[in-house]
Amino acid sequence: HAAAPAAARTRTPVAIGHRGVPVQAPENTLASIDRAARLGVRWVENDVQRTKDGALIVMHDTTLKRTTDVEKRFPGRAPWRIADFTLAEIQKLDAGSWYDRGFAGERVPTLKRYLQRVDRNHQRLLLEVKAPELYPGIERQLVTELRRAGWLDQDHVKRDLVVQSFSAASLKTFHGLRKDVKTGFLGAPKVSELGAYAKFADQINPSHRSVTAAWVRAVHTVKGAHGRRLEVSAWTVDDGDRAVELARMGVDYIISNAPHRVAEALAED
Ligand code: G3P
Ligand code: CA
Repeated sequence: HAAAPAAARTRTPVAIGHRGVPVQAPENTLASIDRAARLGVRWVENDVQRTKDGALIVMHDTTLKRTTDVEKRFPGRAPWRIADFTLAEIQKLDAGSWYDRGFAGERVPTLKRYLQRVDRNHQRLLLEVKAPELYPGIERQLVTELRRAGWLDQDHVKRDLVVQSFSAASLKTFHGLRKDVKTGFLGAPKVSELGAYAKFADQINPSHRSVTAAWVRAVHTVKGAHGRRLEVSAWTVDDGDRAVELARMGVDYIISNAPHRVAEALAED
């Protein structure tokens, strides 16, 4: 007998740019998604939070310290929480120089401008509601902003948008407001708990370290909120060999700081 061939992959996972392409441009900026577009990266991930005066902006940390020059500009305002600064103050900050002088003058994007740019670039968006416990009511506000920006039109909703969060409570609230939008739960629930998450989520999005082939198979047997099988979106994978391993386990999306490299490794496998 000839040896049985290794299980062939039926589909190639989609690479998602984690906060844009942070190996080439400052995270969560317009420059970063433009870089993704130039590299042919179709899906980008971001993080959404709220300013003191109620504007939704794109940033990962809950303070402005790491990814802007806030310490220099507002030295007396430690710990520089996003929620303690107005949008006008935040828009004075430089969100590029910390990364590289070539990006000096890059601004913290409002969600509104970010959505416009994703649209212009013909990209798709995995939008993370970051630390929603700090921003009561952010889900309803997000729905309003997405609607005003045209992102709740049915073509966008079907193709181009997934809303994710580490907070099951926030995701449930969002799903309750807009049942048509796809959602992803960030975490790796036990197989016995998947059914509960599937009531309000279409994706289960774990750290790649907790992924096994058996777990992915189990996730795929469950129907998500929109009646199709739950998908798996694993983060954060910058190594091509690891991406190929995850692809062979059946992962649907791979979130990466170097999504162009991951896409190349997957295409070669
Ligand atoms: O998209 C997954 C990933 O972004 C979750 O972790 O801390 O980078 O937001 P974090
Ligand atoms: Ca994120």
